[in-house]
This record gives sequence, C-alpha cells and structure tokens, in this order.
Amino acid sequence: MWAPTLIAALVTLGYTRASDKFPDGFLMGCGTASYQVEGAWNEDGKGENIWDHMFHEHPEYGTNGDNGDVACDSYHKYKEDVQMLKALNVDVYRFSISWPRILPTGDVDIINQPGIDYYNNLINELLDNGIQPMVTMYHWDLPQALQYIGGWTNGLMADYFVEYARVLFENFGDRVKWWITFNEPAMVVQGYASKYRAPSQPSPGVGDYLAAHTLLRAHGRVYRLYHQQYRAAQNGSVGISLDVQGSAPLTNSTEDVVAADRYQQFEAGHFAHPIFSQEGDYPAVMRQRVDANSKREGRPRSRLPTFTQEEVKYIRGSADFFGLNHYWTDFVTDEVNVTSPSKADDTGATAVRNGEYLTELQQAVNIDKVPVIGYIAWSLMDNLEWTEGFTRKFGLYEVDFKSPNRTRTAKDSAAFMAKIFLSKKIPEDDGCLS
Ligand code: BGC
Repeated sequence: MWAPTLIAALVTLGYTRASDKFPDGFLMGCGTASYQVEGAWNEDGKGENIWDHMFHEHPEYGTNGDNGDVACDSYHKYKEDVQMLKALNVDVYRFSISWPRILPTGDVDIINQPGIDYYNNLINELLDNGIQPMVTMYHWDLPQALQYIGGWTNGLMADYFVEYARVLFENFGDRVKWWITFNEPAMVVQGYASKYRAPSQPSPGVGDYLAAHTLLRAHGRVYRLYHQQYRAAQNGSVGISLDVQGSAPLTNSTEDVVAADRYQQFEAGHFAHPIFSQEGDYPAVMRQRVDANSKREGRPRSRLPTFTQEEVKYIRGSADFFGLNHYWTDFVTDEVNVTSPSKADDTGATAVRNGEYLTELQQAVNIDKVPVIGYIAWSLMDNLEWTEGFTRKFGLYEVDFKSPNRTRTAKDSAAFMAKIFLSKKIPEDDGCLS
C-alpha cells in the first residue's frame, strides 16, 4: 500500500511516556461531526437526515431516547466552540458539514442559504482565530430524501455526492484546504446491514457491499472533480478517513495468523485496497470468498459488486492523504458463528478487543519515519455517541446536556492536551487519562 501522508485520529488518550517533539508543521487539533454536535435539526430550512428519521421513528434504537435534535447546540454556540478550540491551542478543527442543512432535498434544486451562511460563519470564525478548518463532507447524516430512493445502495448516489461536493468547493473551497470525503465508510455501510444504525435497512452481506461500492465510486469521482476543476485555484488536499484497527492473531496457530490478515483485508482493505494499493480494486481474498459463498448460496451473481476497469482506475490513487481513525487492536481467531449471509460470515474470523495510545504515534513519526502530517483527537466536547446517546464522554470539554444552555466545562484532559498542542511534546510527567 502507498500512503503519501497520514492524518491520525484517536478517540481517547492512553498511557504516554516521555519522548521527542512532533516535527515542525505537524498539525494537531480535535474533531466533531455535524449530527453529533449541531442540533437545530429542523431550523432555518435544514432537511431531515437519516439519523433524525431513525431516532424519531425508533427512539428505542438509541439510549435513553437521546438524539441529535439539540445535541451540543453548536449551530447556535459555534463561537463558543471556537474559543474552546483556541484555548486548546489547536492548529486545526475537523468538523463535518450536514448535507441536508445545505441541500434539504439532497439534490441541488434547493440550496439553503442559511446553511451556507452557518458554515461560512464557522469557517471565518476559525480563520480569524488562527485555526485551519478541516472539513468532512459526509459524517453519516444522509438527507432522508435520498434514502427514500435507496440511499447508498443506489449507484446514482455517486452523482448526487458529486453535485453536493461541487457546492462545497464553490462556496468554501477558497478557505478550506483540507477535505475528507467520507468518515469511516465501513461504519456508514453498517446502516445497510443492521437496523441499529441509520438508515436502518438491514440487508447484511448484500446491501452493505452495494453501499460500499457506491461510496468508493463517489469518493473517487469527487477526488477527480477537485483535481480537475478546483485544485489549481484552491490548492487544497482531498483524502478519506478510514477506521483501521490493529489486527493481531489471537494465538500463533497458522489458522489465526491467516485469519488476522483476512480480517484486516475485509475491514480496512475493503476501502483501502481500491484506493491505496498499486493494483486497485477489492482485495483478492474478498473477491474470492464472497464470489464463492454467493455461488454456494445458489445466487446468479456475487453479492460483492464488480468495478469496471475505468472505475478501478479513477478510484486507485484517489487520495492526497490517508485519514486513519484508530482506536484499538483486535485479536483475531479463525472461528465464526454468525448469521449468513453477512460480511462477518464471508470474513470467517472473530475479533477480541484491546488498546489505545499517543506515544506510539510519535514514535512512528520520529523513529520509523512514517510521514504522518497530523493528529486529530476525538473529540472537542462530549457529544451524541450515536445509538449510545450521551452516555459516552469522549470530549476534552464536558457538556451539561441537562442545561438548556448546554454549558461547556473544560476537563483535566483539556489542560493536558492544550500543553501538548502548544509544545508538540508529550509531557514527561504524563499520566493515564480517559
Ligand atoms: C467517529 C465518531 C465517533 C467516535 C467514537 C469516530 O471515529 O467518527 O463519529 O463518535 O469515533 O466512537
């Protein structure tokens, strides 16, 4: 695999040790996502998204009835958010744009000016405070209007995404130099395998592969669009963020060693191989196993769709950087006991979980010379952790979700990270944070 540069995101901080500085120019900051923080779910012309829809129809799929209707109310409190970022000494803020806030129908028939104004204000506020915006175009909140026509399982969605991206480049590309097309496509497609993730359309082993196929085509096309039409004038970079966990064999048996590799090919490789490998396309082991399983099931076609040669070509190499979201290592064994068909069954491996760290990242940069260009911590503040509601507290700032004001309070970890972000150094009197 080739990866020109990496942007890493880690969810919490693990145990850290004294070591060198990160190199000059290393970008540090933290991230959020529109549905998790903005609220204002139906204000100023915003359209419904698939998470609004799922939680309103099925509050029981979430936790305590929590949803993103108000969340952290960042739609109204973005100036305060920027002051928090400034106090953290970040170089960069990674946030996502809500597609239906800009295009309520998902299509360009209606461009919602208040939505454009909101992101313009946020971007300008960041720049005025010396913070670079890094924008995720899609962090899981598809316009519900597009789900009514099949969502990501509909190949046409690649066209819709290109048009949406064009609106973003036209309106914000003069100031945004970091673009991430998709955040964690592997999580996006789970909404087509499980009813507990939006859009709650369970078709495991079929719909999730179809959706992934469209996402890869959409990503490749938006990358090419930027490079053909905007890059010369705007001079930014376009990449994608993939969730890539470690995959280690549970035992040293040959079966587990092979299973751990296969697991990684099905997890990260599903999206990384078509974009970052020399040959492009899906990993060979995926092709072979899903084709064979589909045949055994008596299907006339593979559940894993096929790219045309042209698609393989424009998807391959379609990233200026590799956004690597990393949270743990999976210990993998060559056993599986799940429903079929499903991606887990096609993978033929089961994972057990452990991990999290920052010093390792620094050593990868300083010792192994991995060209990592930045680190984005998840998250600026506590927010809606999808179906886990407000129960998970990943923020550097605490948010009081009971107060109408959604009062933010810095945690100890905010002071700790503010030092690291300023000095680009992990302190010697480090500790164990969560
Ligand atoms: C996702 C976030 C999520 C976080 C913690 C990130 O990688 O992008 O949406 O809240 O992980 O689970």
